[in-house]
Amino acid sequence: MKGVILAGGLGTRLRPITNVTNKHLLPVYNKPMIYYPLETLMKAGIKDILIVSGPEHAGHFLHLLGSGKEFGVSLSYELQDEPGGIAQALGLAEDFSDTEPVAAILGDNIFEDDLSDVIKKFMSSPSGGHIFLKEVTDPQRFGVAEVAGDKIVKIIEKPKKPTSNLAVTGLYLYDSQVFSVIKTLKPSGRGELEITDVNNAYVGQGKMTFTVVKGSWTDAGTFESLLRANLQAARQQGVNLQ
Ligand code: TTP
Repeated sequence: MKGVILAGGLGTRLRPITNVTNKHLLPVYNKPMIYYPLETLMKAGIKDILIVSGPEHAGHFLHLLGSGKEFGVSLSYELQDEPGGIAQALGLAEDFSDTEPVAAILGDNIFEDDLSDVIKKFMSSPSGGHIFLKEVTDPQRFGVAEVAGDKIVKIIEKPKKPTSNLAVTGLYLYDSQVFSVIKTLKPSGRGELEITDVNNAYVGQGKMTFTVVKGSWTDAGTFESLLRANLQAARQQGVNLQ
């Protein structure tokens, strides 16, 4: 199984701190943000990892992470010319994936739990897709999964009236069909290829399974969530904050 870290995008909600620096290079407690998704993949034993980023900062990622030797992994790099959406960024990993299944993670997602058992289980018989859901108090901000028993009925992107409080987190496991699915997508109203459309294609075929994440999870793409990510990471590393 190959790993892909999606670290493109503009990070406009974190301006002015992203005016010069890329969001995924900002500190989250004592490490650059991108270390956290990298560690999530590494813990699951994924050793071949592609980092997709925009042209302005690609050199910085290379400078920071290099070949991956220091981490015991092999890192590759791909450019996303324009921020055309998460699904577009993932589509750039097709050659890299070389028909293997992929674990794709957003560069600003920080999970407390070790998810390696679920990832390894998917790896052992990769079929369809698998997503990770988290109960949140503000589902309107996310893709929200409507669930019936152990099945996902549908995923709605940023619903005004959410039908559940289960947010779709930024870790996605897909079989190699994902690249064919991405090729069928049309840009959304905001002009992006949406990962929710990819996920709903798998849901529609009855091929999407899920895990509800128990431990903390946050993205770090807004000032509030970046602060939360810092606090979460510090606590996890044993810092006693008041
Ligand atoms: P977003 O937070 O939706 O977008 P963004 O990072 O551009 O931030 P903003 O909305 O504040 O401008 O993206 C979530 C993650 O997805 C982000 O951390 C990186 C990844 N991403 C890409 O790799 N390529 C893209 O084109 C987009 C939109 C996001």
